[in-house]
Amino acid sequence: MIARPHEPPVSPCCLIVDDEPRLRQAMVHLMRSDGFQCIEAANGIEALDQLAGHAVSLMMSDLRMPKMDGLELLREARSRFPELAVVMITAVSDVEVAVSCLANGAADYVVKPYQIDDVRARVAQALDKRRLLVENRAYRERLEDRVREQARQNEELFLASIQSLAEALELKDPYTRGHSIRVSQYSSAIARAMSLSGDVLRQIELGGHVHDIGKIGVREAVLNKAERLTAEEYEHIMTHPVLGWRILAPLLADRPCALNIVRSHHERYDGLGIPDGLHGSAIPLEARIVAAADALDAMTSDRPYRPSEMSLCLALEEIRRNAMTQFDPDVVEAVTHAVASGDLQLLPKSAYTSPLIGAR
Ligand SMILES: [Fe+2]
Repeated sequence: MIARPHEPPVSPCCLIVDDEPRLRQAMVHLMRSDGFQCIEAANGIEALDQLAGHAVSLMMSDLRMPKMDGLELLREARSRFPELAVVMITAVSDVEVAVSCLANGAADYVVKPYQIDDVRARVAQALDKRRLLVENRAYRERLEDRVREQARQNEELFLASIQSLAEALELKDPYTRGHSIRVSQYSSAIARAMSLSGDVLRQIELGGHVHDIGKIGVREAVLNKAERLTAEEYEHIMTHPVLGWRILAPLLADRPCALNIVRSHHERYDGLGIPDGLHGSAIPLEARIVAAADALDAMTSDRPYRPSEMSLCLALEEIRRNAMTQFDPDVVEAVTHAVASGDLQLLPKSAYTSPLIGAR
């Protein structure tokens, strides 16, 4: 970074560690004359205290010291401050140990009695290496920030696409308004009662929200028909799980639970459902959950062909009566539990489909 003209450049801080005051002072003198701010320590323990209290760029440490020797100090200092540049100072007889310091993270070592130019060259190299480390870390952090931001934008774009489809269906089928968000929330309460959480729970909320998206491909006259449907009309409307699955498969490729819900929410536990006639646990759990939530909302809402509403209590009884045939008994237990705990309560019928964007 280039310093502004009116701001003096900040000198790097150097910690000199030596138990011999005379040698320590000589090194302090040398480093100060080269523009460093210097702090001192007489042993490893004092050095660690100094490192904790100052922003130190470079540590120059003797090897042989009382209390904590230079190698132990090096290991401890590098584990606490991985970007600290360390140059060891050693006697000729300690060169082997000094080499092992390199394996423990020291940037270099100088041998006593040292040549001033040699010290300068090694310090410069050590600080260069540190600068690269610091720059790499900053670069990695910026990259990670960019990746996170890109992922957030992708998620927003994905939810916007799904939201557009959901709104297209709501325009065509007014009943779907509110139904989608209610099924999503009832499913979520049932899933929580089954101790599901995290990504699976989020996919169940999403799947509940879009489970009927295939009705986009169903004739409006059939969708909004007040009278009982003919067999042909019923067959036509029940193509919506597969239609929805086809529409959403490219968008939900990395959300398989949500996609399973779209395809399998009209399967029955006894194997008599559609579209695949799956039986029992062959039906994905998330779809068994949404099937119960879907039925609960259907029973407690007005529909074109059935204008009467049922209370939550009666709807629950009906669901319990159909355990093992239409519904998974474990899911039925979870519905009962969610209602009893108050986590599952009927939502007002005026509840409009909430935007997916920003909802999570
Ligand atoms: Fe459906």
